[in-house]
Amino acid sequence: MKTVLSGIRPTGNLHLGNYFGAMVNFLKMQEIHRCFFFIADWHSLTTHPDPKMLHVNVTGVLSEYLACGLDPQKATLYVQSEVPEIAELYLLLNMHAYLGELEKTVSFKEKARQNPQNINAGLLTYPVLMATDILIHNADFVPVGKDQEQHLEMTRNFAARFNYKYGVEYFKMPTAYIYGEKDLIKIPGLDGSRKMGKSDGNCIYLIDEPKIVEKKIKSALTDNGPTGENTPKPECIENLFTILRAVSEPEVVKHYETLWDSGEQRWYGSLKKQLAEDVIKLTTPIRERINNIKNDTKYLAEIVESGTVKARTNASKTLKDVREIMGFKSFS
Ligand code: TRP
Repeated sequence: MKTVLSGIRPTGNLHLGNYFGAMVNFLKMQEIHRCFFFIADWHSLTTHPDPKMLHVNVTGVLSEYLACGLDPQKATLYVQSEVPEIAELYLLLNMHAYLGELEKTVSFKEKARQNPQNINAGLLTYPVLMATDILIHNADFVPVGKDQEQHLEMTRNFAARFNYKYGVEYFKMPTAYIYGEKDLIKIPGLDGSRKMGKSDGNCIYLIDEPKIVEKKIKSALTDNGPTGENTPKPECIENLFTILRAVSEPEVVKHYETLWDSGEQRWYGSLKKQLAEDVIKLTTPIRERINNIKNDTKYLAEIVESGTVKARTNASKTLKDVREIMGFKSFS
């Protein structure tokens, strides 16, 4: 059995892109691997979030994860800031992370350029904190998107450097979780863009009320209709079909494919109505669960408590080993 670990920053709500891109796969992973899923609230501090919102956001993301079906009996779900062992290992690993390599990190350079008034040390050492998250559980696989690949590569560098420096083979080299081709469904935006998630206008959130879903899909970008039989679809139409394929029955998809190929006009209204209906069918039970869980502070406290115990038990073993390897000795 392999150890899989993933962190999510508590910013924003889950949308259909997150659901089909990550969540659906997390649900499969928790059945076959030893999984750690956590909320990276310390990572979110680089941008100085409003203290009044931090807990609300963490609770929101946690509720959404649970509502989607992440199962605390199967996976270890926890909140990063509840595990102080991570902070200590981060301190230790920071001694082996060099300014030059941190400054060269693409994500750092990008954030520093966007926010020149807030280039803080936490931003610089963001990759060390992420490496700590991964190494503290000695994860084999990390499901990451393209934007996080460099961080994973740096994690391997830090791990290898540590092993070499202390003459041990302690840390494993974590790699990206490789998805099956069918597992990687990329949900495009409603505005004709390749990816859902850039702005509210192209995004359907799991917590969107049915009225909102209808409105968003109704105003999704379309063209003027097919220009003949069997013509290729423009991107905005292909996008709607991609979402349809993810949420609707195969016969429904086939029906609209046939309409497109026939070159007939004036059925986009019906397509959008059907798409909205099927999206709502998928999201309604999830939305209801999110709202129930969010308000159930007792249940949430229980989940976080038991996840914390599991995460800390494992993390403290690693930390104990690392302290020993680095030469710390207990006085008692
Ligand atoms: N940096 C990741 C992101 O922005 C979040 C994250 C923090 C993470 N720690 C991690 C992802 C460890 C995977 C493993 O999406």
